[in-house]
Amino acid sequence: MKVILASPRGFCAGVNMAIESLDLALQAFGAPVYVYHEIVHNKYVVTTFKEKGAIFIDDLNEAPEGSTLLFSAHGVSPEIRQMAKDRKLFAIDATCPLVTKVHLEAIRFAKQHYTIFLIGHEGHDEVIGTMGEAPEAIILVESAEDVPNLQVADGSKLAYLTQTTLSVDDANRIIGALKQRFPQVIGPPKEDICYATQNRQEAVRILATEADLVLVLGSQNSSNSQRLKELARESGTKGYLLDGASDLKPEWFEGVETVLVTAGASAPEEVVQECLDYLVENHGAQITPHSIREEQVHFPLPRELREKALPKA
Ligand code: F3S
Repeated sequence: MKVILASPRGFCAGVNMAIESLDLALQAFGAPVYVYHEIVHNKYVVTTFKEKGAIFIDDLNEAPEGSTLLFSAHGVSPEIRQMAKDRKLFAIDATCPLVTKVHLEAIRFAKQHYTIFLIGHEGHDEVIGTMGEAPEAIILVESAEDVPNLQVADGSKLAYLTQTTLSVDDANRIIGALKQRFPQVIGPPKEDICYATQNRQEAVRILATEADLVLVLGSQNSSNSQRLKELARESGTKGYLLDGASDLKPEWFEGVETVLVTAGASAPEEVVQECLDYLVENHGAQITPHSIREEQVHFPLPRELREKALPKA
């Protein structure tokens, strides 16, 4: 069996920064460190941090007053920031700067009295956080089919923004439908779907055609990982999303000669390696790395950690 190992894959700069932040917070301030929602949408990462003393909460009332709290890479609404202040929590903001960029665009458009169509998935942590910046100005749009039913009070000032981890093709379809119905709609100066989402999708788009099976390492609640699986299937190749080697099923490999392996932006390299080991041991896999492009993106640690957890330069 031949295995093509896609690159770029796995951790993006935002996930690296969030994980480094939680590690450093645990070292500097000791356990427990409370984390609002999952630090990143990955079972392996969350379980590993639980063992190190992180406590994941969905309600800030679960963090005792004065405790250390970390906001995950997906960002939070201003209401949650205020609640953390009111409860006197020491909040460390590990929001990915590319998510913050979308928040700032929402604030700017709302201040200029635009109605904002936010293209994204209902209930996703990032969407909840972004909508919280200007709830009265934002309308969620999940599909091109939603567009004919959108109701706007003032059609003269309309803008769209997107979640950072969408399918580029789906987002373009929805933006196309919006522009057709509302030719005056404007977008952000630079697109919101992040570099990591785009690059991982590009690699699958190019390489999936050479494979009979695409394995995407990532958790079911990871938006960008789900999009990679869907992209493989759209290109006509079987595709599965799995947390690790224990999810692999023998029937997936029937008649398969070439497998493409990739990983979502929140999936660690450990689970990729575990999957490759399985393929070598059970299918005699020959692994060929294939890089579509290089990534050189790095985000600084949150200010709270630079000020309080790192030695002064
Ligand atoms: Fe940020 Fe994109 Fe990763 S928004 S957290 S760089 S998937």
